[in-house]
Amino acid sequence: MKVYTEKNKIIDAIAELKSQKLSIGMVPTMGALHQGHLQLVIKALEDNEVVVVSVFVNPTQFDNKDDLEKYPRTLDDDVELLKTVSKDAIIVYAPSVDDIYEGNTVSETFDFDGLEFEMEGRFRHGHFDGVGTIVKRFFDIVKPHNAYFGEKDFQQLQIIKKLVEKQHIPVNVIGCKIHRETSGLAMSSRNTRLKPEHKLAAPFIYKILKTAKTHFGTKSANKVTEWVENQFKNHDVLELEYFSIADTGTLKPVKRKSNNKTYRAFIAVYAGDIRLIDNIALN
Ligand code: PAF
Repeated sequence: MKVYTEKNKIIDAIAELKSQKLSIGMVPTMGALHQGHLQLVIKALEDNEVVVVSVFVNPTQFDNKDDLEKYPRTLDDDVELLKTVSKDAIIVYAPSVDDIYEGNTVSETFDFDGLEFEMEGRFRHGHFDGVGTIVKRFFDIVKPHNAYFGEKDFQQLQIIKKLVEKQHIPVNVIGCKIHRETSGLAMSSRNTRLKPEHKLAAPFIYKILKTAKTHFGTKSANKVTEWVENQFKNHDVLELEYFSIADTGTLKPVKRKSNNKTYRAFIAVYAGDIRLIDNIALN
């Protein structure tokens, strides 16, 4: 499997592949790959002849230095895992911070029509400017036909669709379903950092989301939110940061339910110092 660390080299390699009229898929990741990432790669391999998997822990999207430092970096294992799904159709792009930012590690500022101010945007300042900056750069370097993102980061997915629309970037952005551990916990690279007692408690998050979905059938968004907040009030291990029932398109919290709109419930929870997010479609 070819692993590129320099953008000039991968740009040349992609140009060669494009001259052969091959379809290029891209799965941007921050590494520490797990089965959830592999599902994105498998879907990308079904749709494209070549799949570029980027492995890059992007500093500009972290508002917490400690989280950035502790983020797992496991490139050799990532490459081995990718080889289990294809040895010759995957290209890895694992650049250094300098290769990407060229000595100026700062974000661009974006206007995502307000999507950036909801939920994660309220708690992780500058996060979506960092995500927008790196994804725009990757699209510029790799120029994929199709790019795949997980719905676990549903707000990120909507923001990337907005980025592509507003900046006229010629790529199809494809959202892929959340992959879960058998316990129901949404797969995340951060799960490997959970202490045993937190790992044991964390499936509670999805259990609450599923029950909230049932309640949403008969109760208002406010009542469901109140119910969820109460479930976490006296929890020994998990600390709720936010729960929000929002319109799927605008991500704004729903005030009154309407039959012709789709909604999702979003949650962020601390298990010790690990922040976990999840979401569920409600209708
Ligand atoms: O979802 C992620 O892993 C990251 O936010 C992404 C899209 C790779 C950008 O760094």
